[in-house]
Amino acid sequence: MKPLALSLLLLWPSLVSLNGAGDGTWARFASLPYPEDNLFLHDTFPEGFMWSVGTSAYQTEGAWQQDGRGASVWDTFTHKQLSVNGDVASDSYNNIERDISAIQTLGVTHYRFSIAWARIFPDGLLSSRNEVGLRFYSHFIQRLRDIGVEPIVTLYHWDLPQALQDRYGGWVNETLVERFSEYAWFCFESFGHQVKYWITIDNPYALAWHGYGTGKLAPGIKGTPHVPYTVAHNLIKAHSKTWHIYNEHFRQSQQGLVSIALASHWVAPKNGDITPEAVQLCQCSINSVLGWFAKPIFVDGDYPECMKNNLKSLLPAFNDGEKLEIKKTADFFALSFGPLSFRLLDSNLLFNQSKKYLLRQLLYWIHTEYNNSKIFIVENGWDDSSGSTKTEDVYNMYPLKTFLMDVLKAIKYDGVDVIGYTAWSLVDGFEWDAGYNTRRGLFYIDFQSKEKERMPKSSAFFYQQVIEDKGFPPIPENKPITGTFPNSFVWGISEDVIQVETSPTTPQFVDRNIYKWDVNGTGKLLKVKGVMGQLRKAQCTDYSTIRQEIHLLKNTHATHFQFSLNWSLILPTGNTTQVTRANLRYYKCYVSELLRVNVTPVVVLYHPILEDQRLPSVLENNGGWINPETIQAFVEYARLCFRQLGNKVKFWITMSEPNGIKHIVAHKPNFTLLGHNLIKAHALVWHLYNNEFRKTQKGQISVSLHADWVDPANPFSRNDIEAAARSLEFDIGWFAEPIFGTGDYPFIMRDWQTQRQNTGWHNSYLPYFTNEEKELIRGSGDFVALNHYTTHIIHLEGQTGAKTGYEFKVQHLKDTTWLASPDGKAVVPGGLRKLLRWIKSKYGNIPIYITSNGIDDDSPSKDKLRVYYIQSYINEVLKALKLDGVNVRGYFAWALRDIDEPNYGFYTSNRAAKLSVEHYRRIVDNGGFPTSKITSTKCYQDLNSSAKCNPSFFRKQLLIFALCILSVFTATMFLIIYYSTKRCRKYK
Ligand SMILES: *[C@@H]1O[C@H](CO)[C@@H](O)[C@H](O)[C@H]1NC(C)=O
Ligand SMILES: *[C@@H]1O[C@H](CO)[C@@H](O)[C@H](O)[C@H]1NC(C)=O
Repeated sequence: MKPLALSLLLLWPSLVSLNGAGDGTWARFASLPYPEDNLFLHDTFPEGFMWSVGTSAYQTEGAWQQDGRGASVWDTFTHKQLSVNGDVASDSYNNIERDISAIQTLGVTHYRFSIAWARIFPDGLLSSRNEVGLRFYSHFIQRLRDIGVEPIVTLYHWDLPQALQDRYGGWVNETLVERFSEYAWFCFESFGHQVKYWITIDNPYALAWHGYGTGKLAPGIKGTPHVPYTVAHNLIKAHSKTWHIYNEHFRQSQQGLVSIALASHWVAPKNGDITPEAVQLCQCSINSVLGWFAKPIFVDGDYPECMKNNLKSLLPAFNDGEKLEIKKTADFFALSFGPLSFRLLDSNLLFNQSKKYLLRQLLYWIHTEYNNSKIFIVENGWDDSSGSTKTEDVYNMYPLKTFLMDVLKAIKYDGVDVIGYTAWSLVDGFEWDAGYNTRRGLFYIDFQSKEKERMPKSSAFFYQQVIEDKGFPPIPENKPITGTFPNSFVWGISEDVIQVETSPTTPQFVDRNIYKWDVNGTGKLLKVKGVMGQLRKAQCTDYSTIRQEIHLLKNTHATHFQFSLNWSLILPTGNTTQVTRANLRYYKCYVSELLRVNVTPVVVLYHPILEDQRLPSVLENNGGWINPETIQAFVEYARLCFRQLGNKVKFWITMSEPNGIKHIVAHKPNFTLLGHNLIKAHALVWHLYNNEFRKTQKGQISVSLHADWVDPANPFSRNDIEAAARSLEFDIGWFAEPIFGTGDYPFIMRDWQTQRQNTGWHNSYLPYFTNEEKELIRGSGDFVALNHYTTHIIHLEGQTGAKTGYEFKVQHLKDTTWLASPDGKAVVPGGLRKLLRWIKSKYGNIPIYITSNGIDDDSPSKDKLRVYYIQSYINEVLKALKLDGVNVRGYFAWALRDIDEPNYGFYTSNRAAKLSVEHYRRIVDNGGFPTSKITSTKCYQDLNSSAKCNPSFFRKQLLIFALCILSVFTATMFLIIYYSTKRCRKYK
């Protein structure tokens, strides 16, 4: 009995798997675990994964009249209708060895190319067979085998012999089914002993729709509406006939596989609303392009229902015999996904939904829609139309990385059986309707040159690396560590602005009545008639805002709270002769109330980039920080603050993120002068404190800097590596080097500015400090305070249309494989550790506080992104402390409360705690990440002694375990598989 039961279970998945189930794709991808699913997946591709790169004949071969090649429709079309053509293109026909060596450099296992039909049958027919053409391909295939690369041969990539177009009218004529199958037979016969992967036809959608409908592609026919459907009908028959020929006559001896390369876009419900109607429209959009061919070939020999309904008699019909003949005539699913599928997509076929460049969703759709087919991606990549890029093609490299990540997640998370990947293309070539305006090669070719050397681009180095690593293996230093921070470590929350309440709002102290408590009766207060009391003076506890905020703060268990004073609220005229006492009293109260609950106040005197913390308007109107008088005003303001608050405040920040001003005033040529005066003002205030207050008040004081990390966008580019290093100096070193280093600006900043000025960039003047000023500035900080939020990637100038930095031309690009916040901020925890190491390497072992670290999250209560963010960033701080010996003393999470919409706050604007409060509190209570008391394996082993284990943890484990088992048998429960496989792996 047992074996039978088992075999039934094993059969079950194939019985229940559903054709046409692709319509669940959108809902599924809208409900994946967040942010886990969006994280970069460090993992490798399955054993035996096929790494490939490809080209097509007309795009690269050139040599259009050489050695007896016949003309193709593309020769005719380009010569008549376009100003550019593939007469020479990449000249691959005459550069076999250059291509071979490029292929070898990449380390691919497979190479996809197409045979030019007219090179072996110049007039399209067997009778015209051309031995030289035949030998060319035999030789090329042999050379591939010599270097251990398997060929994937496309029989027909759009270049129909012109003779067949002339004689029969091309694919409108069913005769071509015969002509094509004869040609295919001949190719199987001639090359089949060396070729295991055959693609009959490439992208029949583009061919039918644009070759015979819009006329955008060769043969350039603008046919009546039914023509493209007739053409497609014949293409499907040609493919199926060819597959049967292979199946009956060659498969046994040659053991190869045959398919057709189908291209597709991806589409999602407009506005993201996944309604059944929108899903149906999306289904129909994909079915009208991909399904047009895939449904007959992979499912049932017939067109998709929605096409039949929409097109009625325009769409030809297959008879029952033909359906039987056509269905299931592909040995794997050959998918093409590239810019062409979007560029050449008829917008009517979007049915008003939105196109998306998402490969992973498409893979899952194909997987569910077409019965778990094995998918070989036979073309993927992007194009770079910026023109001026030569080999540093970050604009191709990042899409390549993104698509590869999509494929990896499709395999690992979605259970899609992707067996291979083809990067497109090997070399720059003729890009059809786009001519030579875009480049898609991994190797650059100077089309003007005679030699046509193949120069590896960054994307080639990148792809080579991925192949060598078999994907994206885990990086040991990314692994979270366990451990705790010293007891003295400071755990804080920081807030930019605190709302200032000018008068106490507690009502009871404006009421002079006396009350009596009705203890034995109603328990209410009873007014005692005829007696009036005295009003008492307002107390700090009377400010309801302070009470409320401190309550929130207490709940986080943070020991420190950082906030900014508002200069203009204290000194509206900028002058100490007029002090707004009420506001000053509010701040005093805030500080003393914090102290009352054992929270240390960290007070920022001035936060220049905040809109509502502008300079007192008198100062602003007198030139602001350009005017040296502002420096003196700041010193006087600081003196007042030290006097009034200094007996209670022991942790001062003179200015928060003064280096951030360049983000708001960068368009002004003199912004470096603003910075110059801010540095001087800071130094003077530090000396003021040091000389006049430190002895009695015993506090510490410094400046906090905006300090995001930057990485080179292109790790293979010296330019980008240098630009990233320079960018750190311009962003952070600008203030840090004078204050914590030499007393002067970073050398690289001065040097680069000089270079730029020499080449005509006059908008970047960097002022000089006198020697006395340098002395004053150097060492004017007790610690380094860093506000860190994200990591950018930086690419050096040279792109047309590039947004250029003001002090040097860099672009901030996005690595779309990184987790990003709703505002598009990259979540890169490792960036913080790199920053801390950089600070240590630059300024030595000075104490460091991270005075702000936070992320936007648009969830009003379950802010899982923030939970992930604070945990992983704090863990990187721990690594910096434990592993790198960085002298980091404290961490402040930003921010306490949202202002209106859910954004950076731990609490909503209505003071409701979000999920992150509890998580931050746990880290604070534990002092970091002590070794977990419950290790999962222990729980598995000691199932009986469950007292040690948290019962809810247990239930979860059991559930997961059950799901793991269930998932083996269940092909339909994809979500469950998804959640559990991850955890199974984690707890193994
Ligand atoms: C197909 O080609 C044959 C042979 O030239 C011709 O007789 C026939 O009319 C053509 N059919 C169409 C639909 O053009
Ligand atoms: C409440 O009741 C207790 C016991 O009966 C009595 O001693 C006390 O005086 C009462 N208090 C008031 C305020 O009436």
